Amino acid sequence: MNHFVSIADTPLDELEHVFAVAKRLKAQLKSTGRNDAILAGKTLAMIFEKPSLRTRVSFSVAMNQLGGYGLLLSRDEVGLGTREPVKDVARVLNGMVDGIMARVFEHGKLLELAQYSSVPVINALSDYSHPCQALADLLTIDEHFGKLRGLTLAYIGDGNNVARSLAVACSKFGMGFNIATPAGYELADADLLLIKAKMPELSVTTCGNPIEAVRDADVVVTDTWVSMGQEEEKAKRVAEFAGYAIDESLMSQAPKQAIVLHCLPAYRGYEISEGVFEGPQSKVFEEAHNRLHIQKGLLAVLMGGA
Ligand code: CP
Ligand code: NVA
Repeated sequence: MNHFVSIADTPLDELEHVFAVAKRLKAQLKSTGRNDAILAGKTLAMIFEKPSLRTRVSFSVAMNQLGGYGLLLSRDEVGLGTREPVKDVARVLNGMVDGIMARVFEHGKLLELAQYSSVPVINALSDYSHPCQALADLLTIDEHFGKLRGLTLAYIGDGNNVARSLAVACSKFGMGFNIATPAGYELADADLLLIKAKMPELSVTTCGNPIEAVRDADVVVTDTWVSMGQEEEKAKRVAEFAGYAIDESLMSQAPKQAIVLHCLPAYRGYEISEGVFEGPQSKVFEEAHNRLHIQKGLLAVLMGGA
């Protein structure tokens, strides 16, 4: 694996290896309180064009626990594609650091970083996808059910970056993916066709309403209705997403053993009710903590030859 920009471009056996390393490092940290210094002396440049809590903390702490260093670079400092062309940023950084992690608006910037960088580039979220989140979600599901293959995930809400990465991740690992969105917020057919060309196993079941989506679900997932950069559309979106919340009424239609995930931050009273968020089926904090563990698996494989 040279870069981690998309799950569709990463072979299943390499993803399985990342999971195995992540699980090993998680168990090692739990039992001994520390990890081997797999990344001693190594530096990860972390470019953020958007806000972050989980991604920033998990990558920084992961680098620290593996003996390396995470160098935070803010949007204004770097000016990716504005102060300096993306391809120049890539070629400057790759002479000084051992990996580049970037959270960007335009997905094309990640592709360009990867094209011009000789060190690994990691997608920490773009408007198009959020693959690190999808891997952490699958790790959480695997820990809960002891398997992935054969399970069904129902995604309710916006057909956004998080939904797209989950659709791909579920298909890679043999899970069913149901999705229910309001009209106009579906995963675009054109995107699905492009992914299918690389990954024929992509399988998305589009449901007419949230109840149909959750009826056979093992995992029920949502995300904010208003992603970073869409703030001025909030009023319109809140009106159009009416009926698409994960609340007690919807969860009463799902199997009792289903768990609830949300990548966070969560907006109670909008995409998820307070009761479901705080209720026994919710595994959102296990999911958030698994961002650290899956990040370590990725970094150890990409930068440490694990
Ligand atoms: N889920 C997630 O990526 O959180 P942050 O935006 O806080 O990094
Ligand atoms: N879809 C959200 C995910 C936040 C982690 C966004 O892009 O803002």
